[in-house]
Amino acid sequence: MLQTIEVTKTSQKKTKPNHSELGFGKFFTDHMFTMDYSTDKGWHSPRITPYAPLTLEPSSMVFHYGQAVFEGLKAYRTADNRVQLFRPLKNVKRMNLSNERLSMPEIPEDLAMEALKNLIEIDKEWIPTEEGCSLYIRPFIIATDAFLGVRPSSTYKFMIILSPVGAYYNSGEQLQPVSIYVENEYVRAVRGGVGIAKTAGNYAGSLRAQTEAEKLGYDQVLWLDAIEKKYVEEVGSMNIFFKIGGKVYTPELSGSILDGITRTSVIELLEHWNIPVEQKRISVEEIFEASERGELEEIFGTGTAAVISPVGKLKWGERELTVGNGKVGQLSLDVYNTITGIQTGTVEDELNWTLKID
Ligand code: COI
Repeated sequence: MLQTIEVTKTSQKKTKPNHSELGFGKFFTDHMFTMDYSTDKGWHSPRITPYAPLTLEPSSMVFHYGQAVFEGLKAYRTADNRVQLFRPLKNVKRMNLSNERLSMPEIPEDLAMEALKNLIEIDKEWIPTEEGCSLYIRPFIIATDAFLGVRPSSTYKFMIILSPVGAYYNSGEQLQPVSIYVENEYVRAVRGGVGIAKTAGNYAGSLRAQTEAEKLGYDQVLWLDAIEKKYVEEVGSMNIFFKIGGKVYTPELSGSILDGITRTSVIELLEHWNIPVEQKRISVEEIFEASERGELEEIFGTGTAAVISPVGKLKWGERELTVGNGKVGQLSLDVYNTITGIQTGTVEDELNWTLKID
């Protein structure tokens, strides 16, 4: 039987931001979900309480050895005023894969789903209705043993916080093409490492390259494989797709790439549309050669936060290419309109991806 989630509502609701100031991840709703784990009790004490700072021991293991995993998904308000999620069970399953890789305890799927639904129900008035806006959901788990020896923690906290968001990129425009810097020096992940897990350290390790790319005027970094530095892996906060000569390619899941839920959905959508799509090892050289032959039609990134982000420019060493004169390609536009339409209920959900929660 599912454990009962105890609810304590806030007595002081916050003022909600105007949608024009949302950006990404700056504002947080009135409540949060928490549940604790210990080896003897398992996951216990699920509760929703007012959003507030945490009190943790400075010796909590998460601060020292980085046992931390997270997820990202969104809640949308439909035109008929319902609330829906996009393939949420996939996030819960992926979080459990990350847990396994980081030696952290699995979360019962039904309990995680109940937690998501209950918290969103309580804060649903925070879901923005304006185009391109949604309620970003950030579940995460941290290790809380007060201990400095290196071993898996025996206690954890699972929490969910909610943030009303607009576009991920600074431009503030959802479909504004982004510029990408192909990273030749630093690497993100190697097969056998933690690249397949959504763990905090992967993002910490990416910051230096990201900062350097930004200084050079690029929005994000494109990571190459760590061994040969030849093959395309993923972009800072998204997976990547290339349309070349009428066919769509995306890097195959190599063991060091994050298995993106938007990535899978785009592959399934293209197959549904009978557009040829292939997952394979793609070298960055191939992309530049296709561009020189005039066959590189489109590049776009996919992610929960980034949605579908057309790429306008790619910089690799001394070489730079521009995709489609910097304009948004037709396929990127179609995929964006269909995915966001399904998410917000304006396009029929033929593939059964959404879950109505009220
Ligand atoms: C997401 O798309 O939800 C992500 O987790 C990317 C992020 C680190 C902003």
